[in-house]
Amino acid sequence: MYQPAITGTGVFTPEQVITNDELVVAFNAYADRMNAKNAEAIAAGEMAPMEHSSSEFIFKASGIEQRYVIDKSGVLDPEVMHPHLRQRSDDELSLMAEMALDACQKALDMAGVAAEEIDLVICAASNMERAYPAIAIEIQKALGAGGFAFDMNVACSSATFGIQAAADMVRSGSATKAIVVNPEICSGHLEWRDRDCHFIFGDVATATVIERAEDAKGARFDILSTRCATEFSNNIRNNNGFLRRSRPSGVEDRRDMQFMQNGRKVFKEVVPMVSAHILAHLDDEGFGGENLRRLWLHQANKSMNDFIGKKVMGRTPEREEQPNILQDYANTSSAGSIIAFAKYSDDLDPGDLGLVCSFGAGYSVGSVLLRREA
Ligand code: COA
Repeated sequence: MYQPAITGTGVFTPEQVITNDELVVAFNAYADRMNAKNAEAIAAGEMAPMEHSSSEFIFKASGIEQRYVIDKSGVLDPEVMHPHLRQRSDDELSLMAEMALDACQKALDMAGVAAEEIDLVICAASNMERAYPAIAIEIQKALGAGGFAFDMNVACSSATFGIQAAADMVRSGSATKAIVVNPEICSGHLEWRDRDCHFIFGDVATATVIERAEDAKGARFDILSTRCATEFSNNIRNNNGFLRRSRPSGVEDRRDMQFMQNGRKVFKEVVPMVSAHILAHLDDEGFGGENLRRLWLHQANKSMNDFIGKKVMGRTPEREEQPNILQDYANTSSAGSIIAFAKYSDDLDPGDLGLVCSFGAGYSVGSVLLRREA
């Protein structure tokens, strides 16, 4: 058995930003248009008018101030309300692979690993832009990596579940150098026309290099252990899928073909599930929350993270102990906790413990216990 370690991380951040104010102007213009279009039905009491969104609500309810997206022009056009993405030919790199490559290259550079040395690529994300061939295999080819590659989807927990899979393979020897990459085009599955959730997501890609600790060329984080758990829930759901064409009205513009959630229930049910999961994981390793120098949590909602951080650490964590990036990136699904880890882990001292934890649809929760090594 080999000790697996994280030796590099990379983040691809799209160039375009949408602030809450910009988003709200577009949403409110859309709502006004819909209300004008349905004026008769609204006046007859057959339909409720759409209400305006507000920047103040968004910030207060979520902590989000802005989000990065691949295309803002379509999202901010009240006649469109979704990103405009160019159709690529089958000979071109797919968009997910393109974002992934940028993040992978940064992670490989940090680790000092050549792409050809990689023998496992896992593309772990909430959505894949096509059914097959696997995006991971396209990334493997574009990188010039060897070995094998596969896609996996556990929604917001995809990154930690992917890290567990890669770490177990490095530990056993079935892979020697792995990259787990999380290209998340959340703007593609967000319902920008729904006031309850239109502010939630952003786009990004993250990558993590995992190899044998003994092969690390610089500072590293040893993966002491991982823990994944799932419990079925319909509270976060998207019904889009390959049977769409086969079902009556399947191809219509339907609300359930985009992200749907019962946000309040998710909040109430997931916070205790995640806190208990982290504490049990730590306890089984002989630690408590007080032993953690850092907690890199999934980035969905600031209050959720505040609750989880307090429960795990037994006190209100200092800002640097539980860094949030959601104010800048919004919820980027599986990539969120990895962005936090990539941006806020350099300053840890040898021997310091930290824990990455993601959670979301499924429900699913994954935690990765790390120790900084020189
Ligand atoms: N602008 C202004 N007001 C809004 C609004 C908006 N965009 N969206 C909702 N509201 C209103 C609602 O109509 C409601 O009004 P009411 O009290 O008069 O009925 C009020 O604000 C509260 O709405 P609610 O949906 O209960 O808000 P919330 O405090 O639960 O916050 C979330 C909403 C989505 C931010 C929060 O529930 C959350 O983050 N949940 C967890 C999400 C999560 O982690 N999801 C995982 C995704 S992978």
